[in-house]
Amino acid sequence: MCGIVGYIGFRNATKLLIESLKRLEYRGYDSAGVAVIDGKINIEKRKGYITNLNPKFNGNIGIGHTRWATHGKPSDINAHPFIDCTGNFAVVHNGIIENYMKLREDLIKKGHKFSSDTDSEVIVHLIEENYKDSFRDAFFKTVNMLKGSFAIVAIHNGERKIMGAKKESPLIIGIGDHENFVASDIPAFLKYTNRVITMQDGEVCELTDDFVRFYNFGGKEIKKDVEYINWSAEDAEKGGYEHFMLKEIYEEPEAIERTIHSLFSRDFRIKNNFDKIVFVACGTSYHASLIGKYAIEEILKIPVEVYYASEYRYRPEVKEEPLVILITQSGETADTIAAAKIAKYRGYRTIGITNVLGSSITNYVDNIIYTSAGPEIGVAATKTFITQIIAIYYLIFKFGYYNGVLSRGKFDYYIDILWKTPEIVEKSLLLEQDAIEEAEKLKKHGDIFYIAREINYPVAMEGALKMKEISYIHAEAYPAGELKHGPLALINEGTPVISIVSEDKTYDKMLSNIREVSARGAYVIALSPKEEVKKYVDKWIKMPEIDYIFSPIPNTVFLQLLAYHTAKILGREIDKPKNLAKSVTVE
Ligand code: M6R
Repeated sequence: MCGIVGYIGFRNATKLLIESLKRLEYRGYDSAGVAVIDGKINIEKRKGYITNLNPKFNGNIGIGHTRWATHGKPSDINAHPFIDCTGNFAVVHNGIIENYMKLREDLIKKGHKFSSDTDSEVIVHLIEENYKDSFRDAFFKTVNMLKGSFAIVAIHNGERKIMGAKKESPLIIGIGDHENFVASDIPAFLKYTNRVITMQDGEVCELTDDFVRFYNFGGKEIKKDVEYINWSAEDAEKGGYEHFMLKEIYEEPEAIERTIHSLFSRDFRIKNNFDKIVFVACGTSYHASLIGKYAIEEILKIPVEVYYASEYRYRPEVKEEPLVILITQSGETADTIAAAKIAKYRGYRTIGITNVLGSSITNYVDNIIYTSAGPEIGVAATKTFITQIIAIYYLIFKFGYYNGVLSRGKFDYYIDILWKTPEIVEKSLLLEQDAIEEAEKLKKHGDIFYIAREINYPVAMEGALKMKEISYIHAEAYPAGELKHGPLALINEGTPVISIVSEDKTYDKMLSNIREVSARGAYVIALSPKEEVKKYVDKWIKMPEIDYIFSPIPNTVFLQLLAYHTAKILGREIDKPKNLAKSVTVE
């Protein structure tokens, strides 16, 4: 989705903005641009990659943007920043202005000339229209006229300051010495400062070289705390890896460890006996939720329902839902945010799990739990997924213990394994050569099937999602018991079937399902800690031994490596797969 940066200080703004926009590339975009003040507002914007831009402006105040098209196709004219008719104001915007049609008609009647098809352009014309003698006043007046979601950053040729506003799109401030930054995400400016302030919905910021002030939309000043980021700019760089995705897979042990430490540093107690728990999420986070369902039902014996956020948001209120857990690594997914609002409106207890400090979800839930995976740049979720599982498990064990479902002995047993998961992931990473060899065989196929049962069924779904997302090979996951109800008809000589055979109550049944596909000529790869499995399959991947409740963790890591290497052999754009964005802020 779109990315915003703004800078005011002493450095060359053009160079800094281009560099910062590159650090936001992971969000996905189809055009980019910058506006820098140097006596006048200079703008360069183009369709396509940031590398299409070659601005040579002087000046040390400016704004930049990467656009992911919603209103108006990707083109030079629809790219941001937008400038008003007088050339005195420039604006970048993320989100959607719902009342832009009416505003645009009114502005056209007043003589404003529009140059794009976007909703965003109305903002800069409104600032021009509202301007009397104060940029700040015009900005406030404009923000209060807008309906919809927005992160807006604006500059004025006459006053040395940047104004910004946030509603349902992220905006983070970086505090420097005689310089300040504003951006959609921290990696944009982390090279220069680790002091950040996250803006909440309904807030306006005013940045000069030496201060940053915050206000509510009514203009009342607000005091906000500075937070210190404990990961470095290098964490958001490739560090010698060919792709962010591979680097992020290799960071999983460290990400898990950081997440466990941070979870334990907070005394998070849920003392209550819920008779049902509901998870709401999208994509990979939905798969983490499904793993949570199996684990909760097994350990806590509480029924769990899992909804895609895009379905939940339109669901009628059927019966009270005592606890709703919303999972979103980015904290910005539009459907998940909408679902959180509904749950809150209906008066349910809500918990959010996210990886991004101060992201939108934090505004709409009663409690927030952070995974501490560090920045994830690859569009494919990897370490954020693994740490979501860790956070869910931590919640389950704590909940079980404080509500008397888990004995102290059982609680300690699970927590002990939780601490060992980084080690287990290290063992999975040692299987990379197997992943490379199997990827070589998978690359020529048009369809790949994934089968598993019970708690590893969502892992199969996640493996298939990773495969299709980055290799563009059609991949489908089935609960293994469902094969004979239809999908078996698709199995032919050589069709790849990736199976997860965990040492649990479904072990024997999984072996029968493998025989079913083998008998039809499938090429079967099996992930299992049990050597016996080798007899029944074409390739046995020897997974590390672990209590089966935790087996989704090592199994996922192998499937991430398998998808990565298949995509790499096929020469795909792994970190930025086509048509996809890191955070999906539109419905
Ligand atoms: O940020 P979120 O966790 O809410 O994102 C939800 C999905 O868009 C996301 O998990 C997507 O499926 C992944 N990029 C897949 O790797």
